[in-house]
Amino acid sequence: MEKSSGMSRLELFPDTARVNAASHLEIGGCDTTALAAQFGTPLYVFDQATLRAQARDALRVLRAQWDDALLLYATKAYWAPFLARLYRELALGLDVTSEAEMAIAQNAGFDPTTIYVHGNNKTSAELGAALAMGITHFVVDNLDDAPRLAALGAELAPSRRLRLLIRLSPNIDAHTHRYMTTGVADSKFGLGIADGMAERAARQIGAYANLDLVGLHFHIGSQVFDTDALREALHAVLDTAQAWRDTFGFTLRELNIGGGWGVAYNDSQRTLDVESFLQNTARLLREGLRARGLNENLKLIAEPGRGLIARAGVALYRVGAVKEIPAVRTYLAVDGGMGDNVRPALYNAAYQAFLANRFDENNAREYAIAGRYCEQGDVLIERAALPETRVGDLLAIPVAGAYQLPMASNYNLIPRPAVVLVNEKRARLVRRRETLEDILACDLD
Ligand code: LLP
Repeated sequence: MEKSSGMSRLELFPDTARVNAASHLEIGGCDTTALAAQFGTPLYVFDQATLRAQARDALRVLRAQWDDALLLYATKAYWAPFLARLYRELALGLDVTSEAEMAIAQNAGFDPTTIYVHGNNKTSAELGAALAMGITHFVVDNLDDAPRLAALGAELAPSRRLRLLIRLSPNIDAHTHRYMTTGVADSKFGLGIADGMAERAARQIGAYANLDLVGLHFHIGSQVFDTDALREALHAVLDTAQAWRDTFGFTLRELNIGGGWGVAYNDSQRTLDVESFLQNTARLLREGLRARGLNENLKLIAEPGRGLIARAGVALYRVGAVKEIPAVRTYLAVDGGMGDNVRPALYNAAYQAFLANRFDENNAREYAIAGRYCEQGDVLIERAALPETRVGDLLAIPVAGAYQLPMASNYNLIPRPAVVLVNEKRARLVRRRETLEDILACDLD
């Protein structure tokens, strides 16, 4: 069994995580056992200091590499008013995909010209809402977007020229989970370079006076550690810009390199080094633009989601049952599961668990951590090394900030968890736990 080894056991946790004298895990100066007692479990805890630091660092690094740079946060990773206020203060832009995502941004006072609308099926209602709030940038993902935007734009924003980027599918494998691979030929996202689809979209946009093709976008996948694939994609995209310049006078004014920055969820993974990744990208970009004689004064955009938020969140669960199956294994059943974190079931995502109320104790056993949902596949961790664990113990699963709450469901009609934001010894409830009334509210007799 692995031994507890002080600091390194906190590496997956938010910056402010520490173990107090009672051997309890603390985040943002708050004892997690006290948080669980006050707010109940499952509970998602976000650390304000980590959220700020991660966004600030990414901004600083990007701006150091490129004068005209814009950092977008991909709101699909997790979006809520408390995050909107924080990211708005830091002057981040946004990648949004739905009306509610836009509404949260609007309520927080985001500059609409820094919001980019994505999606492989943007509805007229969503596009109408975007135009009404003054959003100017749209990322084209098919051959139906441009005609729809041109018509809606003419009707709802007649004085405006909408700025479009085409999402390219460069046919490059990002070597991540199949469900997170988006840049290959057979993907529902993007328009192919090789098959001429992207060029068709470009020519189509050129035919509308109220649409302006300002740039290109690519996002080859999520949880990407393979920087060779990202480099290859960059070259493919620059080749496209060059070909289009030569054939129909296209000028690349904005280049959006997507997100996908890989994040470690356990000891065997290493988080992508964002600083060296962005340094290398900027250098390759500069060289690539120069070599092709392309516009070097373009706006460089990056749009990470997970990389800015995943490590800022921790999920807390209470153990409600310990089932030892002789000669097979021991299950710890917790009070959450695939309803608040579908990632293990959907992507085989490998998490690590810690005992929040006896953090310093040495790992002595291996357990399977089962969720409480009626589904055999609802196992959060297949093999978790933990101290001897009993009913009533509190489990902490780190790196819980991205794609857990936004993908949560009410399977078994179980209410979704509460969320608290911790900072300097204070905890603020930023999402209340759903109630029975919430669960039943939409059904009509
Ligand atoms: N840009 C575009 C166009 C995207 O589709 C995505 C993610 C991002 C940026 C941000 O990617 P990130 O930096 O967060 O990797 N549910 C999956 C991930 C799906 C990603 C969807 N698109 C998961 O739980 O791992």
